[in-house]
Amino acid sequence: MTSPPHPHNRAAAAPRPTSAAAAGGRCPAHPFYGPELGEWDPKELLRNLRKRYGPVIPIDLLPDGSFPVKLVAEYDRARDVLHDSGTFSSDPDLWRDRNTVTPGHPVQQHVNKLKHVQHDDGTDHTRMRKALQQALSDLDRHEPAVRAFMQHIADQIIAEFAHDGYADIEAQFSQRFPRQVMMGLLGIDGQWADVIDASVHELIRSGPQAEDAAQRIHSLMRDLVREKMARPGADLSSWLIYYTEPSSTPDRMGEEAFVEELSDQIWFLLNVGLGATAGWISNCVVELMTNAELRAEVRQGKTSWTEVANLVLMSVAPLQNLFNRWAVRDTYLGGTLIEKGEFVGISFAGTAPETSPDGVDKRLLGNKAHLTWGLGKHACPRGAQDLAYQIVVIALERLFLHLIGMELAIPECELRYPPPLVVRSPERLPVQFDPPSVPVTPDSGEPWTNSLLFSTPTAQTSTKREQPSASRGRWRAFASRVFHRRPGSGR
Ligand code: HEM
Repeated sequence: MTSPPHPHNRAAAAPRPTSAAAAGGRCPAHPFYGPELGEWDPKELLRNLRKRYGPVIPIDLLPDGSFPVKLVAEYDRARDVLHDSGTFSSDPDLWRDRNTVTPGHPVQQHVNKLKHVQHDDGTDHTRMRKALQQALSDLDRHEPAVRAFMQHIADQIIAEFAHDGYADIEAQFSQRFPRQVMMGLLGIDGQWADVIDASVHELIRSGPQAEDAAQRIHSLMRDLVREKMARPGADLSSWLIYYTEPSSTPDRMGEEAFVEELSDQIWFLLNVGLGATAGWISNCVVELMTNAELRAEVRQGKTSWTEVANLVLMSVAPLQNLFNRWAVRDTYLGGTLIEKGEFVGISFAGTAPETSPDGVDKRLLGNKAHLTWGLGKHACPRGAQDLAYQIVVIALERLFLHLIGMELAIPECELRYPPPLVVRSPERLPVQFDPPSVPVTPDSGEPWTNSLLFSTPTAQTSTKREQPSASRGRWRAFASRVFHRRPGSGR
């Protein structure tokens, strides 16, 4: 690779492709690891790699060549993969190299086979996704309360640092806000919240503690599901349990399998969008801090927060790569052979629309022609997309409401980006602002409880009893057969 690094980033030597010998006789793959990766503007890097390899780029995620992936970096070819689950499955059991990869790699956490919706392609996928959509659509009906809840959480976090006149928005806000919102919505509080929060940190750091953290979380999530089954709460987890119909697949039947599936589902829901949502918030803040014209337009009401969020979504894909497809059989894609069991990634950075070289192109404002949410049967559910938008918009509203005069505390060229394997956002985002003259206090004086957001499944059942649905009937029959109780018993 000969092209220079992105002008906003430090000068860096471009990583060299692995030699055929180091790749164990396989075609040399391009290194996709290490700090050098973070030094490059992702779009420029991908543009160069496309020129060199074509639309399907052989990359390696580990220096010893043991983690090869075929990275699809062209819009139409990426659509082909996402739409064709018969050829490119999202079941990690198909991965031919799964046992050769050292545990602890950040991507490996995403590909350990679990019983959630993303790792299934058959009838269980349809069943689990339907329950998810039903539970998420309940959020829509409670939109004003959900919004107030998020504002409350955002204000609570901002209040902790507003008086300092200085903050690292990435660590002190972006990483925390989406997680606290999701935990609140899922009803993960008290005994679980702190332990899960700490374990998630260890998991994200992907160090030697990551395996233990994963085990701890696994067991905590099972306890959580059992608790919510015995005492449903006013939360998304309880509704998900309530809407989930029993599986008719033999190895998924029975109470144990049901608990296992729901704990994986809730864990997946808690995590799936966290990093991307956090990155999206920080990238919006960077754009607003460095684009005076855009800031002025927002101030004058010509551009809304939602448009800012969409603009940034188009120009800096918050989720840079999706590592979640495996070839079901030998196949050709864009002229490249992909062998059965090979790991296939989708580069959202490489398939994002081109922006003008000097920054974000405002013609993208209302445009939604990107693959950020995926496509086809595994696409991010609409309710989840709406939720992610809402988290980002409220984050921006509250930050710019409270932190008057916010500006970057370091020059933009000093912002550092960790290797954007999954998410791209700055390592630190130091800002300064005028400390507010009156302390920031969360809008509601009352402590928040989830009952302001949702009803419990039990309460809901009584209103809907007049219009019983097939799924509720099936659930009750199943619950009384398998668990010897109805949802809501114990209340
Ligand atoms: C910026 C934030 C987010 C981004 C960029 C994002 C992106 C995606 C993408 C690309 C997929 C497709 C995965 C695949 O094809 O294998 C996906 C799936 C999914 N997302 Fe999101 N997501 C975000 C936030 C969320 C949030 C907040 C939730 C939960 C409330 C969520 C729930 C899901 C679920 C359940 C699936 C799997 C659907 C299935 O396999 O049927 N996402 N997301």
